[in-house]
Amino acid sequence: MGHMKDKVIIVTGATGGIGAALAQWVIDGGGQVVVSDLDHSKVEALVSRLGDNACGCITDVSQASDNQQLVQLAQDKFGRVDGAFLNAGIEGRVAPFEEQSEEDWQQVLAVNFHGPRLGAQAVIPALIQAGGGSIVMTSSVAGVRGAAGLAPYVSSKHALIGLMRSLATEYGPQGIRVNTLNPGPVDNRMMRSIEEQLNPGKGDTVKQAFTTRIPMGRYVTNEECAALAGFLLSDEASGISGNTYMVDGGYCAG
Ligand SMILES: NC(=O)c1ccc[n+]([C@@H]2O[C@H](COP(=O)([O-])OP(=O)(O)OC[C@H]3O[C@@H](n4cnc5c(N)ncnc54)[C@H](O)[C@@H]3O)[C@@H](O)[C@H]2O)c1
Repeated sequence: MGHMKDKVIIVTGATGGIGAALAQWVIDGGGQVVVSDLDHSKVEALVSRLGDNACGCITDVSQASDNQQLVQLAQDKFGRVDGAFLNAGIEGRVAPFEEQSEEDWQQVLAVNFHGPRLGAQAVIPALIQAGGGSIVMTSSVAGVRGAAGLAPYVSSKHALIGLMRSLATEYGPQGIRVNTLNPGPVDNRMMRSIEEQLNPGKGDTVKQAFTTRIPMGRYVTNEECAALAGFLLSDEASGISGNTYMVDGGYCAG
């Protein structure tokens, strides 16, 4: 498949479930990928798994200078940037709203909202230089629905949609498309953490309860999320900008 042939794509949160699947999707489609995350050894392992068309670095997405260095690495290594999957995120602490501290709020917003905001600020000049490109930010079904105990996470994912719509409007004339990927519960580490925080020692019962609310009767996979994000990053989606794309087994339909 050549769906990403000659495309250079930046990925944040790349050693996590969805990020690693998207990085592989880009490589499988003939593209080049610049992966980033917090843990050096995990980034190194991912790069060696992806092969010669990949490189990587440590990026804390909440730091403006880290985002700038990430874009610089892409330009130094591959000479251009065609797209960015601004995907790093944290679930934060699950707790009643009145018990969420200033630190809880600041941590979640720093990564989940300011991360993609700083990532977009860093990458947009490179996309303009390339004659256009695609940005996909990972929001969530929590970007369009509330969830008890997860106010900071839900707020951060709603805020991203406002940012995405603003950037799609502002940079459309320069050929830059901006969309959000909105996964429902994904069968990976983040959901295990949320399930366990909601009912310690009995995460399985939380998974069962979530699953009954999903028409398809199961969580989605990292690869299903990556396929949608990858499509939005590719030229196949050349007419698509300014919207939210669910991959949720029908969760938001009801
Ligand atoms: N797992 C789900 O059910 C689900 C559902 C909807 C949306 N999402 C979103 O998908 C995205 C990817 O999450 P995932 O499901 O792959 O979970 P994950 O925990 O496997 O991956 C998240 C990655 O982000 C990285 N990260 C955290 N803080 C960072 C920082 N400051 N700088 C750089 N990287 C940082 C982590 O190290 C991790 O590798 C997140 O934005 C998450 O909110 C996940």
